[in-house]
Amino acid sequence: MKVIGVEHIGIAIKDLEKDAPFWSKVLGIEQTKTEDVDDQGVITDIYDTGRGKIELLLSKYPDSPIGKFLKKRGPGIHHICLQVEDIEESIKVLKKHGIETIGDKSSIGAEGFKVIFIHPRSTGGVLVELAEKT
Ligand code: CO
Repeated sequence: MKVIGVEHIGIAIKDLEKDAPFWSKVLGIEQTKTEDVDDQGVITDIYDTGRGKIELLLSKYPDSPIGKFLKKRGPGIHHICLQVEDIEESIKVLKKHGIETIGDKSSIGAEGFKVIFIHPRSTGGVLVELAEKT
């Protein structure tokens, strides 16, 4: 598997109006995109540092994955995303090592990337997303 870098860090938030200005105004990171990923029940608000992005994650529905996370853990880091060269090859390597993924196959995530999530049980406690840019 070839990891190219940290693509983004996903942060679950409760209130975009209240929390976004820290990233955009105080830190001055350019807000490049807001995306409604309805099948995940999430709105992703993306800030690009130029070397890794911050993805603010807002739940659309109480029972979405982010909604459940907020209920259980409160706002905070939800996942880190590593960019890989080849997602299908990466999935094969994960399976070979008995690593627990969420779902068996890659799916299309934010920004149209091919992604798969690795369960925190297999990573030392952090939800890890692998993404291949298409
Ligand atoms: Co992500």
